[in-house]
Amino acid sequence: MPDTFDASSDIEVIKQRKKEGIDIPLQKNVQAKTTSTYLEYVRLVHNALPELDYDDIDTSMTFLGKRFSAPIIIDSMTGGTDEATIINGRLGELAEKYGFGMGLGSQRAGLKSEELAATYSIARKNAPNAFLIANIGGAQLSKGFTVDEAKKIVKMIGANALVVHLNPLQELVQPEGEPRYKGVLAQISELAKTIDVPLIVKEVGAGISKEVAIKLEMANVSAINIAGAGGTTWAGVEKLRAESLKDDLKKHLGEMFWDWGIPTAASLIEVRRAVKLPLIASGGLRNGLEVAKCIALGASMAAMAYPFLQTAARSRESLFAFADTILAELKSTMFLVGAKNIAALASSRYILTGMLAHEVSSRT
Ligand SMILES: Cc1cc2nc3c(=O)[nH]c(=O)nc-3n(C[C@H](O)[C@H](O)[C@H](O)COP(=O)(O)O)c2cc1C
Repeated sequence: MPDTFDASSDIEVIKQRKKEGIDIPLQKNVQAKTTSTYLEYVRLVHNALPELDYDDIDTSMTFLGKRFSAPIIIDSMTGGTDEATIINGRLGELAEKYGFGMGLGSQRAGLKSEELAATYSIARKNAPNAFLIANIGGAQLSKGFTVDEAKKIVKMIGANALVVHLNPLQELVQPEGEPRYKGVLAQISELAKTIDVPLIVKEVGAGISKEVAIKLEMANVSAINIAGAGGTTWAGVEKLRAESLKDDLKKHLGEMFWDWGIPTAASLIEVRRAVKLPLIASGGLRNGLEVAKCIALGASMAAMAYPFLQTAARSRESLFAFADTILAELKSTMFLVGAKNIAALASSRYILTGMLAHEVSSRT
């Protein structure tokens, strides 16, 4: 879960809270209710004459200097508890076998003990060659998280990149949250200068606006993961926690802001127009057709969290079957638009309809 529960020094408390961060999304419905990704308003133009064979389609591509077999990242999720060891182990196997990237969950907990560090590093053990992404919360940066600690979490998993996640909505709704974001941009800028792997900044499901993207580009980050609204909502997760902790105000805020945020497609389009940085699209992506739409809209990579969690928690077989399905969906879409490779998919024509067309044209 995003970095919120690591403040306790009691390892058992950390493990329990990290467990809740997996159990709630798995057992309750914490997906968007009244909003969506708006990807349903993106129509790729059908090509009745693709002039290529399905078997010749190549989904491989390069991102931040590393070759991937498909533009897919298992988004940052977990660590810090026994269940996480199983899930990160399976996700690591998948990343290695399928040539996907993989993000780990917020790793501050892993600095507290060897035992907790192992719940993250299992991913590297199972994925010696995959592109792994270390994770820390933006809110932690303003609370004195040091560059040395950042280097340690990178080392913990032999990471190829470091992500800083921005989660102001979650901090606001969470019963133990600390909604303090003063000085975070300066810390990101400092980290970008000093850390020796690429620095990526992501949201956790409320999206990145063009104004924020421009600030991040000026802070010299290497890429942005827009993580828009329409999928897992952390206001939702924290609302359920607030309910069980009988915190009525936080429960109310969680209900009110359940669907808050910039829908994924709208965020992606406005950020693409505003900055040159490579972008990762995520937030509510659930299939390979949506991955293809995001590439056409200008993302370099697409990431998914909840679907990988759900299938990994079920079984290794179910996780691998899901990966096969999204790859088949991606390749099928490429066939139907006549794109032999990812570069061709990126320049394929699309039409924006409905709410998305309206939102994009009404944005200044
Ligand atoms: C169980 C779970 C744990 C998560 N933990 C983290 C985290 O530690 N750090 C982070 O940056 N994002 C975290 N996220 C957010 C995801 O990376 C992603 O941005 C968000 O869930 C939206 O994607 P989705 O709709 O595909 O789930 C977590 C998501 C889930 C489902």
